[in-house]
Amino acid sequence: MNKITVIGAGYVGLVTGVCFAQKKNNFVTVVERDRKKVESLLAGIVPFYEPGLDLLLKKAIEYKKIVFVSSLSQALLKNPEIVFSCVGTPSLPNGDADLSAVWNVAYEFGQFLNNYCLFVNKSTVPVGTAKRVNEIILEELNTRNKNIEFDVASNPEFLKEGDALMDFLQPDRVVVGVNSDKAKYLLLKLYAPFIKKSEQFISMNVESAELTKYASNAMLATRISFMNQLALLADKVGADIFAVKDGMAKDKRIGPSFLNAGIGYGGSCFPKDVKALVKAGEKNRLYMTLVDSVEKINQDMRVIFIKKILKFYKQNLSGKRVGIWGLAFKPETDDIRSAPSIDIIQELLKQGARVLAYDPQAAKNIKNLFGDKIKFASSAAQVLSEVDFLIILTEWKEFLNFNVKDFEKLKDKTIFDGRNLFHPVYMKKSGINYFCIGRNSIEDKDQDSSDFFYSKQKVNEIFK
Ligand SMILES: NC(=O)c1ccc[n+]([C@@H]2O[C@H](COP(=O)([O-])OP(=O)(O)OC[C@H]3O[C@@H](n4cnc5c(N)ncnc54)[C@H](O)[C@@H]3O)[C@@H](O)[C@H]2O)c1
Repeated sequence: MNKITVIGAGYVGLVTGVCFAQKKNNFVTVVERDRKKVESLLAGIVPFYEPGLDLLLKKAIEYKKIVFVSSLSQALLKNPEIVFSCVGTPSLPNGDADLSAVWNVAYEFGQFLNNYCLFVNKSTVPVGTAKRVNEIILEELNTRNKNIEFDVASNPEFLKEGDALMDFLQPDRVVVGVNSDKAKYLLLKLYAPFIKKSEQFISMNVESAELTKYASNAMLATRISFMNQLALLADKVGADIFAVKDGMAKDKRIGPSFLNAGIGYGGSCFPKDVKALVKAGEKNRLYMTLVDSVEKINQDMRVIFIKKILKFYKQNLSGKRVGIWGLAFKPETDDIRSAPSIDIIQELLKQGARVLAYDPQAAKNIKNLFGDKIKFASSAAQVLSEVDFLIILTEWKEFLNFNVKDFEKLKDKTIFDGRNLFHPVYMKKSGINYFCIGRNSIEDKDQDSSDFFYSKQKVNEIFK
């Protein structure tokens, strides 16, 4: 039996614990310091939204494969072989990662360790964190006059909220940073049932593993900001960013992922990790010019979006009834950390607008932030019938069920779409003022160039 402890029942820790518990030989103890969360989990209720997680949690509880406790000392009494630390590492005001939760866990681990254990850091942390964790544990053991063997490893997590279960159960790759064969063996044994080919298990030194996580997130963020900047140019020069993306993505070296132009990325990872990477450069007297620009472009997208709205309404939003579709930083999650919706709502309120918002999952979290300053609708349709104009900030699938007839209910017949959900030509032809990102200057004749030059039939004949 592999006895595993997971610290932190957040988006990463709970998925980690529940997924490990699905495998035959594993027994998982999850440590969560928030007692309310523990109570909810013991009752089989997931305290946040992640599709499918509630079902797997219930199954793990039913088969007695998982338990929840509120302190690491309790979990260490069970002598786990491996402890995964999945605590949060949010941004400090200066952009650095706040590692206080990581250090606290390391102290506690050193204070209550009884037998050999592999300490694995799964949180996203700057290079050098594992080294410091190792020192802290040693210091604590020395204070206790104990000579207990342990290892510290890094195992960054690449799951995406909204798709977290598949990402964990069938990962593209598992990256581990290890300093000993024993640590590598324990992690390989644990992850083997989740991967199909041995090449998917990538082992390296701890520093490389820590940097790999930042490198991956920064690369994805770079692709988004790159497309967003191109989208701004596309609007100026009469190009369609969708067509440009298509034309680029068919190149196998480029591929289609993370090339969607829009209002920019948010969430608990990209913004903070990009900033932390810039800080890591600074500490090593290296100005990370590219990554720094990625974050600046991302912030600019929000400002440009709001400016576009203000320009249309001649700098006067006072008393305007504004509808918002989508509050979560992306679909299939209730996570609003660094979501564009927060900045946009703040600015709308500053301008004196009245906001009516709808999101299938994230309304509660936004309400916790804004209280009664904004109102919430119980459906996307309700928003359309009660506002002057609409802003779209998250690409929830259900929004695609609406059409021009529905949008005619908007008093001003105006939409600012930060996620490019609808076809600008159709919208404009139907009398809707439709503003999107990188597709604003396309015209009727640009819709399908194959139709423009040849009939569809002719094209099919050529390709036969
Ligand atoms: N959310 C994601 O999609 C994602 C993906 C990959 C990596 N990451 C990284 O994983 C880490 C965790 O992210 P998250 O989104 O799960 O964070 P989170 O804030 O949702 O969860 C962290 C949890 O840890 C608990 N906690 C903190 N200190 C504790 C302690 N001493 N003992 C027990 N519990 C404690 C908190 O109460 C909280 O429930 C971060 O470093 C993040 O960057 C997140």
